[in-house]
Amino acid sequence: MAHNDKTRLVQAASRARQKAVAPYSTFKVGAALLTTNGEIITGANVESASYGLTCCAERVALFTALTSGRKHFKAVAVVARAPGGPMPCGACRQLLAEYATDAEVFVADSKSLRTIRSFTVRELLPEAFLDVP
Ligand code: THU
Repeated sequence: MAHNDKTRLVQAASRARQKAVAPYSTFKVGAALLTTNGEIITGANVESASYGLTCCAERVALFTALTSGRKHFKAVAVVARAPGGPMPCGACRQLLAEYATDAEVFVADSKSLRTIRSFTVRELLPEAFLDVP
């Protein structure tokens, strides 16, 4: 993917991170999905006093995109204040494997947005469970 697009997507995730609702962990995460049409859809994590109800930034972005009719994704960027950037959790990897199978995943530390690590969804969740037999 072009360097510009990557940078733009990481910046969108960083901006979205400011909208995180994370009063319990204080760990703010932003995510931005790039559709094959070039649209960017963002999300941030939302936490609950009943901790297990928390929803990660990646899933907020993905659910927003899917429920507004976007179905094809080129890439997703995730940004948080974490060395090397935040790696998506297992639950998010599963949903990305199902709905953004061919996407690239970019992660960056909010303190150094120019250092972007890249993965594919396939390498983050090999041999994913994708269909009910
Ligand atoms: N979190 C995300 O939003 N995405 C990740 O990739 C890792 C974890 C959130 C969930 C929770 O609100 C906080 O980070 C601490 O786990």
